[in-house]
Amino acid sequence: MAQTWETLMGYPTADKGLAGRAMEEAVRIIREDLPVFTNHFPSSNSFDGFYKATENVEWTTGFWTGVLWLAYEYTGDAAFQAAAQVQVDSFYDRIRDQIDVNHHDMGFLFSLSCVAGYKLTGNPKAREAALKAADHLAGRYREKGEFLQAWGNTGDASEYRLIIDCLLNLPLLYWASETTGDRHYAKIAGNHIRTAMKCILREDDSTYHTYFIDMETGEPSFGVTHQGNRNGSAWARGQAWGIYGIALSYHYLKDPSYIPLFERVTDFFLSHLPEDLIPYWDFDFDTGSKEPRDSSAAAIAVCGMLEMAKYLDEEGAKRYTGAAGRLLYALIKHCGNRDRTRSNGLLLHGTYARDSRENTCRDRGVDECNTWGDYFYMEALTRSLGDWNMYW
Ligand code: GLY
Repeated sequence: MAQTWETLMGYPTADKGLAGRAMEEAVRIIREDLPVFTNHFPSSNSFDGFYKATENVEWTTGFWTGVLWLAYEYTGDAAFQAAAQVQVDSFYDRIRDQIDVNHHDMGFLFSLSCVAGYKLTGNPKAREAALKAADHLAGRYREKGEFLQAWGNTGDASEYRLIIDCLLNLPLLYWASETTGDRHYAKIAGNHIRTAMKCILREDDSTYHTYFIDMETGEPSFGVTHQGNRNGSAWARGQAWGIYGIALSYHYLKDPSYIPLFERVTDFFLSHLPEDLIPYWDFDFDTGSKEPRDSSAAAIAVCGMLEMAKYLDEEGAKRYTGAAGRLLYALIKHCGNRDRTRSNGLLLHGTYARDSRENTCRDRGVDECNTWGDYFYMEALTRSLGDWNMYW
């Protein structure tokens, strides 16, 4: 169904009471997860509702450390801080020893673990690790085309592309500029978002997941999906990365041209939500489809709208906080886990990847929890309960 502002505003909104109860339930589950997930990390997605224990690998481990920091901030309980600290040490080792870091996801990994740890406790080791990660990410910047190469070896012609997800890695670079005084990090981050928005935003305000750049000329070449249903479709999580990514760059750069970009990407997302407001994994699917949902996309979008609302005029702020409250209510009601015998995750009904004819994915984490869904759900609850000094 096509949602309009009028239909959206007809849904119930999450008030502080509901968000507070959801937060209490989440914290109870996190506390029970602590014994296993202190020296180990949860796998990227759950399996039949339960995360397995893994080493500090893949792009997803920082989300759990971020969950621990949020639980620490909410409760003040030193047990959460101590567990997060163990994990910061693990991230220090990971970047020092260059373990599974040949990609751009340094922001997802290090903003939520080490930048958060530095901001909350002043730990110099956390700052050092985050700065090493920022340097590593900056090393993926390609002058020809002015973008951060997402995957593969830098300069590899078959991997000369950017992806929309990278917008969430940029805050690590903005933070590095702030903490060191070296403007280079912020400059390349600003160049990246300019290049990215030039290629990935389509005329109908949907987005490409990935976009190849011509290695010789530096000009945008063509867009393809990696995790969406079709090259020309809107992968729900990709659209959500766009929403929050633009808001985060606005927070740091205050470039007024980002406001209409944010509105276009967000309004597409909101107007394509199905009847219960939990997006299908790709906007090719709508109310009544048997395809799975991706609750994490809604959680990411809520955080993006609540961040951007801080910088909009009164009417704009009201629209997007209103929409965020409605999505958060739907997430709490339909996807918030309240039963640890069913799952050790926080947000049910996510989809990591879904096989389709035009993408290269196998089904993975379909109708499961995933660590980023859990993190953004916790961040959304935190934001809706009061002012929050973000880790990004
Ligand atoms: N950044 C990878 C994903 O969203 O699945």
